[in-house]
Amino acid sequence: MRILSGMQPTSHLHLGNYLGALRNWVKLQDEPDSECFYMVADLHAITQDYDPEGLAQATREIAAAFIAGGVDPAQSSIFVQSSVTAHSELMWLLSTMTQMGKLERMTQFKDKAGKNAERAGLGLFAYPVLMAADILIYKATHVPVGEDQKQHLELSRDIAATFNTKYKTETLIQPEPYIVGEATRVMSLQDGSKKMSKSDPSEKSRINMTDDADTIAKKIKKAQTDPEPLPETVEELEGRVGALNLVTIYAALAEVSRAEVLTQYAGKGWGEFKPALADLAVEMLAPMTERMNQLMDDPLEIDKILVAGNEKAHQITQKTLKEVQETMGFWK
Ligand code: TYM
Repeated sequence: MRILSGMQPTSHLHLGNYLGALRNWVKLQDEPDSECFYMVADLHAITQDYDPEGLAQATREIAAAFIAGGVDPAQSSIFVQSSVTAHSELMWLLSTMTQMGKLERMTQFKDKAGKNAERAGLGLFAYPVLMAADILIYKATHVPVGEDQKQHLELSRDIAATFNTKYKTETLIQPEPYIVGEATRVMSLQDGSKKMSKSDPSEKSRINMTDDADTIAKKIKKAQTDPEPLPETVEELEGRVGALNLVTIYAALAEVSRAEVLTQYAGKGWGEFKPALADLAVEMLAPMTERMNQLMDDPLEIDKILVAGNEKAHQITQKTLKEVQETMGFWK
């Protein structure tokens, strides 16, 4: 198994990033025959407004979060997208065989561009092509992500197939999405019909990996629920979006099913459930926050890890890039 995934250094990681993706990165790293590449997707982060002065630091911080979350730099390569230039080069080649109509159907583009799509940058529109290049350049077999990236992964598969058909080759591998667990789509604590997101203006909508115990407890206490107690079955949570979200988060944190959570809490009120959920979240996040703070005290150590990861990534990606260039008939 060759594993590739990435996260944008747009802000602190939140519980959705951890439960939906990072935790699975760690699980896949521990598979006996896996080779893992985990990337800070800084080229993706600049497709929307960002702070150039904070980008390098945000990149280190995300790398530190990967490690604090359990990615082991001795087992997995952690690298920076912009330092491995073959990603952008392959992206250009693939962009020539990606139909605009397919990109126009990407829901993330529609969400991010909003009403004024005409004014959106080309980079935001072409975002999924860069993501396809990120994956295909490693010949990745599995890509662990949250539910929201599923459509992008389908497009990556599609682009790989288009390339192979057009050039009568088997050079590119169609990657399998790895979207696994109870919390593949964690919702906002304030509005259970919206995804928990780094870009939500309300801090109360998400639990950050860097939040302290007090902040976590407060955010969960204020989280959206309804007047009904917890039901006996998962089916009864239908339409109760806030309630469903909290039960889902609990299940994911405790690594049990939602049904098992309800067996334990059926008939109980939120006044009892929420503090238990907060304790569980703190128990999981506190050691990570501590480890992250330690790592951030030693930025040179993080840079060393990234330089080693970049080098490994460079070697592998140059090989695929050469193959693709030869297949496409470039002068050499
Ligand atoms: P990003 O930085 O938005 O999110 C990082 C990962 O977290 C997952 N995620 C969630 N999972 C569950 N519930 C949520 N509320 C939630 N919010 C985010 C995302 O699905 C993702 O797995 N385009 C990617 C970064 C990327 C990438 C790649 C990923 C660039 N190139 C190649 C895989 C392969 C992104 O924006 O992730």
